[in-house]
Amino acid sequence: MTTGHVEVPLISSLPVSKDGQLQLRPLSASLSGEKSRRHMLAGGLLMSGTHEPVMLTEIVELFVPIPNGVLLDATLGMAGHATAILRRHQGLQVVGIDRDMMAITHAHATKATLGATDAARFGAVHARFDGAVDALRNLGIEHLSGALFDLGVSSPQLDIAERGFSYRNDAPLDMRMDRSEGVSAWHVVNEYDAGTITDILQRNADERFAKRIAQAIVAARPIATTTQLAAVVTAAIPAATRRTGGHPAKRTFQAIRIEVNAELDILPNALRDVMSLIVPGGRIAVLAYHSGEDRIVKQILRDAETDTTRPNIATPFAHPSRTAPRAWQKVRVAKQPGADEQARNPRASSARLRVMERCAVAA
Ligand SMILES: C[S@@+](CC[C@H](N)C(=O)[O-])C[C@H]1O[C@@H](n2cnc3c(N)ncnc32)[C@H](O)[C@@H]1O
Repeated sequence: MTTGHVEVPLISSLPVSKDGQLQLRPLSASLSGEKSRRHMLAGGLLMSGTHEPVMLTEIVELFVPIPNGVLLDATLGMAGHATAILRRHQGLQVVGIDRDMMAITHAHATKATLGATDAARFGAVHARFDGAVDALRNLGIEHLSGALFDLGVSSPQLDIAERGFSYRNDAPLDMRMDRSEGVSAWHVVNEYDAGTITDILQRNADERFAKRIAQAIVAARPIATTTQLAAVVTAAIPAATRRTGGHPAKRTFQAIRIEVNAELDILPNALRDVMSLIVPGGRIAVLAYHSGEDRIVKQILRDAETDTTRPNIATPFAHPSRTAPRAWQKVRVAKQPGADEQARNPRASSARLRVMERCAVAA
């Protein structure tokens, strides 16, 4: 599904040479004047502030052995990972996608700061990652050497009050990464029944007090802003528990954001689709930030390990998952950021990294 896909002239009309190389046009050639202004407005807000890319050194290094070709950054954000990978690997072209126009606008500005050679190897497209295959096909790209998924939201998305993601800033409830599609947090908070809200809080954030919070939300309607919601949630949580584990509304905000953006629903197919494009020796790396997300990633990557479509004819009666040739293998990497990074960047502390490499096809 490619809802929210916006044609970005910068690279969507990219010519691709006969050997499959991206021929990226300079930013200034395609985005100028009124078009550029409209493009900025489509983003609603310019990306500002900083986002420290999680496990940057590890991510950059794990792509060192992959074949030259195209790397997809499926969650471009502030392009921290993308530009570091680009600089380290001269043989890679990096295509970043993001469902948030703010990230694409930021990518255009970033591209303008790169040297000509690096800029020519970098492009950005507004799309959801479950539409990545279509977005890449539109660019004439059928194969990938690598892919990165750095899930969730970026720091600037949380920090810009108007986006309505954070209990720290007073703003209308929104939380949509793509402001041109879907229902906002306001609808979830004010229109879903208590049972559905309870399920969302349990499934998306393992919230212990899901039922109490859901009932409090329904009783307090209408709830218009982030701070009103935070106050309702805080009051619904027993006083003794409020003092531990960060802000009492943190889990509720995370759960509602995941629901608004259908984050867990679209993840499995997106991973499978992108993995289907990766060439032998190519790698996929996924950073997940909470247990529900990591469970899905682990399951999809584990399912991919054995290619049960090619059973081993030498032992035809054994279970295919035990005998089929390996299609993917785990790459051993640090699963979590080091202590220094966790201390410096609180966002990194919940990160879990999983990496797989596509095996060479057996003769
Ligand atoms: C954690 S940030 C990525 C940060 C990035 N790695 C960097 O170094 O700046 C996640 C980004 O992914 C985007 N995103 C989340 N879900 C997405 C989806 N389904 N499709 C496309 N982009 C998505 C968000 O809008 C956000 O910009």
